[in-house]
Amino acid sequence: MSTELTFSQIEKYAGVKTAAAGGRADILATMKTAGMRGRGGAGFPVSVKWNLAAAATGPDKFIVCNADEGEPGTFKDRLILSEYADIVFDGMTIAAIAVGAAKGILYLRGEYVYLLNDLEAVLARRREDGMLGQNAAGREGFDFDIDIRMGSGAYVCGEETALIESLEGNRGEPRNRPPFPVDTGYRGRPTVVNNVETLAWAACIFAKGAEWFNGLGTEKSVGLKLLSISGDCANPGVYEFPLGVSIADVLTAVGAENSKAVQVGGASGLCIPACQFDRKIAFEDVATGGSVIVFGADRDMLDVVDNFMEFFVEESCGQCTPCREGNEKLLEGVQMLAAGKCSMKYLKELCSLGKTMQVASKCGLGQSSPNAFLSVVEHFSDEILGRTEGSNA
Ligand SMILES: Cc1cc2nc3c(=O)[nH]c(=O)nc-3n(C[C@H](O)[C@H](O)[C@H](O)COP(=O)(O)O)c2cc1C
Ligand code: SF4
Repeated sequence: MSTELTFSQIEKYAGVKTAAAGGRADILATMKTAGMRGRGGAGFPVSVKWNLAAAATGPDKFIVCNADEGEPGTFKDRLILSEYADIVFDGMTIAAIAVGAAKGILYLRGEYVYLLNDLEAVLARRREDGMLGQNAAGREGFDFDIDIRMGSGAYVCGEETALIESLEGNRGEPRNRPPFPVDTGYRGRPTVVNNVETLAWAACIFAKGAEWFNGLGTEKSVGLKLLSISGDCANPGVYEFPLGVSIADVLTAVGAENSKAVQVGGASGLCIPACQFDRKIAFEDVATGGSVIVFGADRDMLDVVDNFMEFFVEESCGQCTPCREGNEKLLEGVQMLAAGKCSMKYLKELCSLGKTMQVASKCGLGQSSPNAFLSVVEHFSDEILGRTEGSNA
């Protein structure tokens, strides 16, 4: 565990200079050796995404940095952009060389508008230093620049195809896939969408070496990960861990040894009870885009689910029925439980509805919104079943 982030050891421009000295194929090979999976939540292999965009044909290609960061409990991208913006722009520039893109766009969460002036100043300095613009980073014929575009506070716009719709000036609604953005993205052009942290690690990989990154973490989840840790703990904040760290070790680091549960992955993640604190934060076990919310012994888990379900009812874009109607029904069910008016039979129906939403919703929002409800019913049955209609609790 470290509170001093590796990003603080990386010189600005270092990763780009190393990458720019080689060819596109060298960059793609380095990313393959590094073996990094995306840090935004879904864990898609970065080298595969970049290779697909590099192979796509088309006159313009785009690199989009997803800085929407709307998952409850996640604030690590805000820290990266506040303190290490250069290495994020370095990562975007490296991706642009790799795929042959001329334009980068940073899609910034609406609530982070206070960062805009500082980020624009960093971009202006990079232009003066020859890292953006014509023959950027000293590469003959590589003309690349970055714009910043503001989001407007909709959680669903963090989903990459809704984000692209929003960039195009449309309602932020997820698209059908395929086609995928690497082929048909912003304005119908090949587009790489990567998370802020993913791009920052890409710059570190070129500054410190692919083997360094690949040697950390587990076999299936290599490298380091930032976690935003909040809730019932003595020392909340942004921490850096190798992937594969146990939940127990994370809790010790933040002063939360006597917790009752941890929500890993934000509102759409999983609620892990104390008896499973030996589980690992890794793509092969408990995956997360970076949010860890700690619940102390006194938390009412039904309150926790109520809070998350209200969020999803608010944030569902309403495009597909399982998510639009399902989240309303789950919230209503949680409120019936709290009032002692939900029967065991109806609770079972709600669980079955949640499982249907996981497979029938169109995008990740509706596919993951029942997770907290289902995991709390499964792991905290003593708290939940005692509140069903007719029970003696
Ligand atoms: C509802 C929803 C919200 C999302 N919000 C974000 C977000 O704020 N930031 C992010 O990087 N990815 C978010 N994602 C994941 C993106 O769709 C996409 O997978 C990610 O930006 C890809 O980057 P990566 O491969 O570097 O992880 C969200 C997905 C869903 C379904
Ligand atoms: S799952 Fe929800 S957020 Fe996603 S498209 Fe359907 S209604 Fe919209």
